[in-house]
Amino acid sequence: MLDMSRPGGALLASLFAVVFMVTRCDAAEASGSTVECHHGVVVSVSKPASEVGRSILESGGNAVDAAAATAFALAVTWPEAGNIGGGGFMLIKPHDGDPVFVDYRETAPGAARADMYVTGKRDSYTMVGTPGTVRGLALAHAKFGRLAWPKLLAPAIKLADEGFQIDAALARSLNAGLRNSRAFPEFGRVLGKTDSSAWRAGDRLVQKDLARTLRLIADRGPDGFYTSDVADRLVESLRSGGGIISKDDLAKYEAKLRRPIHGTFRGYDIYSAPPPSSGGVALVEMLNILENFDVRGYGRWDPRTLHLMIESMRRAYCDRARFLGDPDFVSVPDELTSRQYARRLGSEIHPARATASAALAKTQGITLAVEGNQTTHFSIIDDQGMAVSNTYTLEQSFGGKIMVNGCGFLLNNEMGDFNPKPGVTDSKGTIGTPPNQIAPGKRMLSSMTPTIVLKDGKVVLIEGSPGGRTIINTVCCVTLNVLEFGMPLREAVDAPRMQHAWFPDELTVEPALLKEHAEALRELRAMGHAISDRPERQGDANCIWVDSEKREYLGVADQRIGGWAAGY
Ligand code: DON
Repeated sequence: MLDMSRPGGALLASLFAVVFMVTRCDAAEASGSTVECHHGVVVSVSKPASEVGRSILESGGNAVDAAAATAFALAVTWPEAGNIGGGGFMLIKPHDGDPVFVDYRETAPGAARADMYVTGKRDSYTMVGTPGTVRGLALAHAKFGRLAWPKLLAPAIKLADEGFQIDAALARSLNAGLRNSRAFPEFGRVLGKTDSSAWRAGDRLVQKDLARTLRLIADRGPDGFYTSDVADRLVESLRSGGGIISKDDLAKYEAKLRRPIHGTFRGYDIYSAPPPSSGGVALVEMLNILENFDVRGYGRWDPRTLHLMIESMRRAYCDRARFLGDPDFVSVPDELTSRQYARRLGSEIHPARATASAALAKTQGITLAVEGNQTTHFSIIDDQGMAVSNTYTLEQSFGGKIMVNGCGFLLNNEMGDFNPKPGVTDSKGTIGTPPNQIAPGKRMLSSMTPTIVLKDGKVVLIEGSPGGRTIINTVCCVTLNVLEFGMPLREAVDAPRMQHAWFPDELTVEPALLKEHAEALRELRAMGHAISDRPERQGDANCIWVDSEKREYLGVADQRIGGWAAGY
């Protein structure tokens, strides 16, 4: 993996990838960090999972078949975020017709209450939301799939049952998860090595219990998860620790079809995640604001461009906290994605002075918790041009480390995405604004931003990323790099990213940005922007670019973790 913390890491990564590592497939298959193909591409964080997706495409499945198969495979090959015990979002652009959004976000259990975390006690057991992944994948398949359901699970079952060789990225991930997991013995039993030594690249990971659970889902459909003995064991595994999910919660869980957020930017159509994600609204709001300025004329790394990007991020994230929540429970103002509103926000940006975040809303200073990369995004396109952009998650890495006894899969700790204390918004990191307070059956607000960009009705870009609240900004950076600054996708993904989330009122940047654009950052400081001196890696954007003239697909796997593109 390329070390992004080295000077020039991103630049080197892009040169190396572009010059030496583009794998072309004229007739046969192609695999690597960057692939050019004509028939189909799958780009995910995990090599075996991307290859499962490609094998489904090659055997006549469409992009949605490949997406379900890739998602099940990731539950085996990337357990820190790939899952059947979590939730997420799938944005689909069918061969013809408008994009469709499958919302399989977790819900608060029926026994959840708005004040359940007011004491500050938030343990793994009560943090589990009712999982949505299996019903979500089944809904997408029922609506668009072509292959028989069991075929989509077969590769994941094989990987779990027979095991697979792990690579360095998975070894690192497992070893990090196993550290401090003593309170969760089932986690260590399933994902630890039998001799308790550290995982190394080349070791074999076998997951027999997970294979059995996946077989049940293959045989019985989603009922094999939601109303079978898997459901009984899930409820029991939680009850022993004070968890509140009931069999009724599981039986009643519904995935939903929603209309995606739609915006336009410089003649492109942007489709992205609607509430209960904040992703699409905030992304379109930021792009709408930026469209009022000639940032292309300034240049990508000019301080004026960076300033306008930061100010757009600040305003969109402020609105996120004020207005967004589950649309089945709160009404989200349409104005947020209107051009008129963006023009007003844009006109309030001072060209050379940072806005104080506290001045934007009559809310006390809010420090938002730091979030990591523990979610996963994959992008797929098939031979007919059907596209899937899917982001799903357990919330934190390996969720709260609760492994359902004897079933081999992890549960999410997604309840942490709700505002914990109604009415309490303070500078220590608590947000208590109403739209995202807990209620039974409600979906917690997300930042996941699976996005598809069209030009003249045809897919040109499929993108998304993990990274908690940073996700929206990662997608915004990649989108601007490509659509506004004309970067080739490899360069756009490798380019250093930055993040401002309204509060904390501080910009975080990736190491390469700090090193390669030090002068621009000095100017930003002079404008009044606070810049964190602890740079962080931001996101893991696995994307696809479509050159419709050449009818060519370019799959670009982000190398920040070690992703893999597989095409044919
Ligand atoms: O839905 C969300 O936005 C978060 N639960 C995603 C979590 C993530 O990306 C990693 N960090 N905590």
